[in-house]
Amino acid sequence: MARIIGAIATSHVPSIGGAIAKGQQKDPYWKPFFDAFDPVHEWLDRNKPDVIVVIYNDHGLTYFLDKMPTFGVGAADSYTNADEGWGLPVRPPYKGDSELSWHIIDNVMAEDFDLVTCQEMQVDHAFVVPMQLLWPDGGAKPIPAVPITINSIQHPLPRPERCYKFGQAIGRAIESFPRDCKVALLATGGLSHQLDGTRAGFINKEFDLWCMDKIVNDPEALAKLSTKEIIEKAGSQGVEVMCWIAMRGAMHGLVSAAFSKYHIPVSNTGGAVMIFDNQPAMALAAE
Ligand code: DHB
Ligand code: FE
Repeated sequence: MARIIGAIATSHVPSIGGAIAKGQQKDPYWKPFFDAFDPVHEWLDRNKPDVIVVIYNDHGLTYFLDKMPTFGVGAADSYTNADEGWGLPVRPPYKGDSELSWHIIDNVMAEDFDLVTCQEMQVDHAFVVPMQLLWPDGGAKPIPAVPITINSIQHPLPRPERCYKFGQAIGRAIESFPRDCKVALLATGGLSHQLDGTRAGFINKEFDLWCMDKIVNDPEALAKLSTKEIIEKAGSQGVEVMCWIAMRGAMHGLVSAAFSKYHIPVSNTGGAVMIFDNQPAMALAAE
């Protein structure tokens, strides 16, 4: 059976991709952020996941404002990237795992989450930048991925609690997948940032650190927040933390933070990197 072994969460700012393209990882501005990925590489080396389920929000590449699914799941064996206008080099296609995708879709739909299923899907910076951070060019190749999107762009947005429950359903679906494999989760987005309006540039360190504590020890406190409360405390794009909330919902049993780093600013954003170990309840009972 498939097993969720843990998760990684990180911000997905496009200029991180720009810094990678220009080889600026050691520049003083970028070094503290990129250095936080050494422990991520060690964790991946040690735990060797077979597949990664990536929970993120699309910013207008595969969906647009005229048609914006609340929850979408990629169901392909390959995902292309394209130019979004950030000046980033287009990345080569990423491998999918359509068998796991359809298993997640079937099981999550059976729990009344009415998904959009995407047999063709382009993955934007919120997918490719974190994947580049996890598997930098010149190192090991990225493992196959299942992309899952949560609308964090076009209101009305799903409630954070709904995202948590969506994550729980994803977790149950993964754990009932009959293939013997190790699954890692990757949540991208956040933390606090606002890119437009009179509060453009708003970052709330105190709230971000609170989120990083609660996501481990009391995720329901985060899930209880309303979308409006998150916008007030974390800025209008701070709602991307819903991807983190869904990722946390997918884990149960013993969840601990193996690594945690907060660094500001990363462009306009409270930049955060976390690694979570997960010993599911079944594994604990068997010990
Ligand atoms: C930035 C952050 C994002 O999450 C995003 O999608 C685009 C830009 C930023 O901080 O610049
Ligand atoms: Fe974003």
